[in-house]
Amino acid sequence: MKPTQDLIEFHDLAPPQERFLDAVLEGFGRPQKQIPCKFLYDQRGSELFEEICELPEYYPTRTEMALLERYRADMAAAIGPYCQLIEFGSGASRKVRLLLDALDRPGAYVAVDISKVLLRQSAVALARDYPELDVVAICADYTREFPLPPPGAGMRVAFFPGSTIGNFTPAEAEHFLANCARTLRGGGAMLIGVDLKKNPSVLHAAYNDSLGVTADFNLNLLTRINRELGGDFDLDRFRHLAFYNDARGRIEIYIESLREQTVAVAGRKFHLGKGERIHTEDSCKYSVDEFRSLAQRSGFIPSAVWVDGQGLFSLHLLRAR
Ligand code: TRP
Repeated sequence: MKPTQDLIEFHDLAPPQERFLDAVLEGFGRPQKQIPCKFLYDQRGSELFEEICELPEYYPTRTEMALLERYRADMAAAIGPYCQLIEFGSGASRKVRLLLDALDRPGAYVAVDISKVLLRQSAVALARDYPELDVVAICADYTREFPLPPPGAGMRVAFFPGSTIGNFTPAEAEHFLANCARTLRGGGAMLIGVDLKKNPSVLHAAYNDSLGVTADFNLNLLTRINRELGGDFDLDRFRHLAFYNDARGRIEIYIESLREQTVAVAGRKFHLGKGERIHTEDSCKYSVDEFRSLAQRSGFIPSAVWVDGQGLFSLHLLRAR
């Protein structure tokens, strides 16, 4: 067997630590305090998110996996042989295996994730299971520009499952997709998972699971600040809060202060009122048509779309112009 370090190509473009500090100080200086959601995914956060994906209430992962399994032959036919698959936010690289098993002689898999340990482990495991595949792992913040390996003989396909696109505002999503469209121009495509608008009670349950894993995931941000930025948050004085904002078509996620208190981060003090919220994430939901219009405005030609029987989740194939 090849030694681990030869199985994959690994590039460490992880953002420096001061970015987290800057983001927290800047975010806490705003009238509506906020922390960008990408910081949820430290080591522990990534583990908790993998747990969320297994929860009975969290339907997106299960539904998207079922869609991939059911329609992957159609997806593979549209993609063709020797493709270069680039996954943004590859996590444990579970979903991509379903696709790889259906593709005709896939050439390369480029996994991009901000969580270094999970990325390396998952890429090595994948390289062992797919010995013919060139596996490249890039630890990077994919919302910023970073270099990609050159395209191969087949189609370049960006794989962006999990409805992570919903964690951007619609304007940010359009901007992000426009950048992708530019990277993929000349015959490339994007296969993207998008969570659909639905009965708010189903959405509410997905972000307020009965075991409290989602709460732990959200509050882990405070633990991370305590550890990495010398914070003094007492986690018992905060709670997880998530609800559907119907007018804006999105789940909004906050950490709520249970009392009036002062907290310190890196020697700076911040005041929080009772009931004051720190915004940690939005998860925008789209109808199929809303998303196709957004993709079109971003410079893609919306092609096939796959939806489950209950209309919970969608997978879109977008072609770059
Ligand atoms: N991309 C996931 C989503 O929007 C992330 C997520 C799931 C999440 N549950 C969460 C983020 C709870 C913050 C808090 O569905």
